[in-house]
Amino acid sequence: MKTIADRIAVVTGAGSGIGRATSVALAERGAVLVLADIDQSGMEETARMIAAAGGMVSCHQVNVADQEAMKTFAAEVERLHGRAHIVVNNAGIGILDDFVDSNLDDFRKVVDINLWGVVYGSKFFLPLMLKAGEGHIVNISSLAGIISTPGMVSYGTTKFAVRGFSESLRAELAGRNIGVTSVHPGMIRTNIAKASKVVDTALQGRMVEWFERYGRPPSLVANKIVAAIESNRMRVLVTPETYLMDAFKRTAPTLAEAFNAQFMNRFRKAINPQYGNRQAAKSDSGRPKKAASVPASSTEKSDLAA
Ligand SMILES: NC(=O)c1ccc[n+]([C@@H]2O[C@H](COP(=O)([O-])OP(=O)(O)OC[C@H]3O[C@@H](n4cnc5c(N)ncnc54)[C@H](O)[C@@H]3O)[C@@H](O)[C@H]2O)c1
Repeated sequence: MKTIADRIAVVTGAGSGIGRATSVALAERGAVLVLADIDQSGMEETARMIAAAGGMVSCHQVNVADQEAMKTFAAEVERLHGRAHIVVNNAGIGILDDFVDSNLDDFRKVVDINLWGVVYGSKFFLPLMLKAGEGHIVNISSLAGIISTPGMVSYGTTKFAVRGFSESLRAELAGRNIGVTSVHPGMIRTNIAKASKVVDTALQGRMVEWFERYGRPPSLVANKIVAAIESNRMRVLVTPETYLMDAFKRTAPTLAEAFNAQFMNRFRKAINPQYGNRQAAKSDSGRPKKAASVPASSTEKSDLAA
């Protein structure tokens, strides 16, 4: 899209961090902002910032993981504006927990928000873009969608999927005047570390501290998103660690993954010396007994009973 001014821009997760900064950046370019978030007060704060600068904005309390709510939201935007041009599928959460100990409800929640939220946002707003004759979909992935992150299997699963979804959709929409971009930030100073469920509390404290100290400002991501919409870029990398790991992964994929796993596991052990011990103890006690200690007849019986 060459022009953002006067275009209708929908941003999910607009009540904080990257979503807020992107909403403000799009409003500064003259877009009409449609904000969505589950957190009403955060979203209203973003709306106040936009309105104070003279922008046009509306707020919609929506859970992106709720298919019907997202469908209704798109219908509401169609009723209000007739069409939509830009959708930034940004709302997301993180859960830090080792897969072996994790519960599947948490895994499902991450998939519902981080992946299905992106799919619903694209699916229900795409007809409004086709109606407008032009559009751009921006999906927020992560550095965790480029290289694996131990302790974040559910998060990584969704972020790799968002990248695959975005590239597939971009290919399908080529020639229809609708672009698709996947965005891969590294560490950004937002609320995500605080808002994430982190089972290891020592780790959460350190993460919050690290994000505050070393995280880059969300405006950095926002400005790159605006530029990507204007120049129809397939992929946006943000922060030096993302560029570095992306290059490493392309040139030596196995080595890059092994290095990252070692680094992350050592990092966690340095924060919490108990890390890994619990799992080792668990897997020792859970080791199967030798086959010879189980009488052949009883095995046959239980097989028959099953
Ligand atoms: N901060 C980082 O370092 C970083 C790095 C890579 C990727 N990301 C991604 O960027 C996106 C934005 O995260 P952020 O860092 O700004 O975090 P944040 O916690 O500051 O903001 C996330 C926003 O999403 C909203 N949200 C959460 N669940 C929702 C739901 N079900 N429906 C609607 N809104 C919901 C929250 O209320 C919040 O306003 C996420 O997809 C995240 O995975 C962040």
